[in-house]
Amino acid sequence: MNQDQLKAMLGEYAAHYIDRYLTLESYVGVGTGSTANHFIDALAQVKHRFAGAVASSNASAERLKQHGIAVLELTQVDELIVYVDGADEIDPQLAMIKGGGGALTREKIVASAARQFICIADHSKSVTRLGHFPLPVEVIPMARSVVGRALAGLGGKPTYRQGFNTDNGNIILDVSELNMDSATAMETAINQIPGVVSNGLFALQGADVLLMDKDNEIQEITASQA
Ligand code: A5P
Repeated sequence: MNQDQLKAMLGEYAAHYIDRYLTLESYVGVGTGSTANHFIDALAQVKHRFAGAVASSNASAERLKQHGIAVLELTQVDELIVYVDGADEIDPQLAMIKGGGGALTREKIVASAARQFICIADHSKSVTRLGHFPLPVEVIPMARSVVGRALAGLGGKPTYRQGFNTDNGNIILDVSELNMDSATAMETAINQIPGVVSNGLFALQGADVLLMDKDNEIQEITASQA
């Protein structure tokens, strides 16, 4: 299977995996990206089993609506039964780097409202140590250079993502060469920089379950097994 076929298999699997949690009153948090898109397409098959979805991006909201799935604002919902999303990297503790698609801030917010985070990632996303993928950092536009200097002070090499604005109207700096000896410490340190909206490290709150392919079969990995 090629990578897109693996992503499609994971999306389909996740839609059936979450069925055990669904009730007619429940809401599902939905991530962003090519793997999440496959999940959205598969979710359409069980749309009669839950009340609606909260999306982590305008693109995902649009795709959900095209499938006839009710999309609500997070302000309209008390709790999400699950949040399902992809990752750019995931380590054995189920800490992740996310934000390759630039939706990291809304992803972190929507994930925080969910009872559990289910990550769907093909095996190419598995790493023993985070940090090969440049860390996306969402920044208020006027703070671009001051944040860039602060990130350099933390040992990183920030690159401005040309021609890109987030759904929140901000910019992204992609930061390579950060020391990830402690991903939680780095996540916290970057969040302290004035002008940073959020960063793509999901280490303080990682995934609860990872669905990942191995030899074309899907494995269910929980954080406690990691
Ligand atoms: C979106 O901002 C990202 O966090 C994605 O979830 C992540 O980049 C994974 O994307 P793919 O599923 O397209 O690989």
